Amino acid sequence: MALSDSATNSREMRSRAVRRLAMILVLVAVVVPGALLYGILIPSYLRGRDSSPILDVAVETVEPADQLEMILRAADMGNKTVIMTTLNDAWTEPGSVLDLFLESFRIGNGTSQLLNHLVFITMGQKAHERCTSMRGHCFDLNTKGANLSEQKDYNTPGYLDITWQRLDFQRQVLEKGYDFIFTDTDILWFRNPLPHFYSQGDFQVSCDRFFGNATDLENWPSNGFNYVRSNNRTISFFKYWYSARTKYPQDHDQAVFNYIKHDAYLRELGLTIRFLDSKYFHGLCEIRSRDWDAVCTMHANCRIGLSSKLSELRGMLEEWKKYISGNHS
Ligand SMILES: *[C@@H]1O[C@H](CO)[C@@H](O)[C@H](O)[C@H]1NC(C)=O
Ligand SMILES: *[C@@H]1O[C@H](CO)[C@@H](O)[C@H](O)[C@H]1NC(C)=O
Ligand SMILES: *[C@@H]1O[C@H](CO)[C@@H](O)[C@H](O)[C@H]1NC(C)=O
Ligand SMILES: *[C@@H]1O[C@H](CO)[C@@H](O)[C@H](O)[C@H]1NC(C)=O
Ligand SMILES: *[C@@H]1O[C@H](CO)[C@@H](O)[C@H](O)[C@H]1NC(C)=O
Repeated sequence: MALSDSATNSREMRSRAVRRLAMILVLVAVVVPGALLYGILIPSYLRGRDSSPILDVAVETVEPADQLEMILRAADMGNKTVIMTTLNDAWTEPGSVLDLFLESFRIGNGTSQLLNHLVFITMGQKAHERCTSMRGHCFDLNTKGANLSEQKDYNTPGYLDITWQRLDFQRQVLEKGYDFIFTDTDILWFRNPLPHFYSQGDFQVSCDRFFGNATDLENWPSNGFNYVRSNNRTISFFKYWYSARTKYPQDHDQAVFNYIKHDAYLRELGLTIRFLDSKYFHGLCEIRSRDWDAVCTMHANCRIGLSSKLSELRGMLEEWKKYISGNHS
């Protein structure tokens, strides 16, 4: 009796174990790849904000040092190129800069698919939560994983520190072998800018004022938008740039770039610098009027205060909508 009971029990246990195994296999074989594909192929921004993050499970199981690598690989355009932006808590509020930035990608011409390749470097908890809730490619700069030169800077909120952290982070992306397009979040994307990068040029930067000659160091650079190719010259250049911080402790990265752009060291490196034409990469500092038939990106810079910036951004979006509807009627 006891023997047959225990045989029945063990048979039942075995068949239960088999069923459970089968369920796990189905999960692994169907649900997980499906979920991953869904996460990777369909831009989260097009799926809406509130979907629960699926990819997080995979992300949490890898070493912090590899997180950057994983995120870059997921965001890659296929030739080791990614787009990056930094995100702080304030600009993540509903109706704030981030929403207008994302809207431009949606209503721009051929820009919505670029969101698949956009990495958000988050600099605050709210920003990171918003990013993961829309299942973007999110890298949390404030916690683990970032190999910043001065780790003690992590939690200092100052703007100066943020621009330098950003620069230091960009150097790491170059060291991983990725080219990147960096864009501030207060830059609207109306057309794909990639066709307008120069075929030559390690470091290509937009301008507050562009005087017509792409190689002339006298252009006024605006480091809120740049395109950087990964190679030994740019890696050395980013290290040099970062280290120049100690010489100019009061200045942010863009001002310091302006001081060092003539340095012999950059010539010795053989670094090629190109200034992007404000016809395609426009901003509010530029006095040249904007050309809606050409413009790819529009920077709401040279405005003091968030509310002024927001009203400029909204105005640009309205103008673009008008331009687009006028064009097609
Ligand atoms: C990388 O791929 C993108 C998308 O296909 C393309 O626009 C860009 O020109 C490529 N970059 C290089 C350096 O070939
Ligand atoms: C949008 O892109 C398409 C395809 O590249 C082009 O034919 C069209 O002229 C563009 N429209 C505008 C308003 O730029
Ligand atoms: C961190 O960055 C430094 C400076 O570039 C580099 O020498 C070091 O190997 C990096 N460490 C890791 C773990 O990537
Ligand atoms: C553009 O600037 C470079 C560097 O200053 C200079 O050598 C070159 O002659 C300039 N080209 C034109 C067309 O002015
Ligand atoms: C840097 O140079 C070394 C030696 O010349 C080369 O092996 C390496 O691939 C280069 N790295 C990059 C990112 O170009």
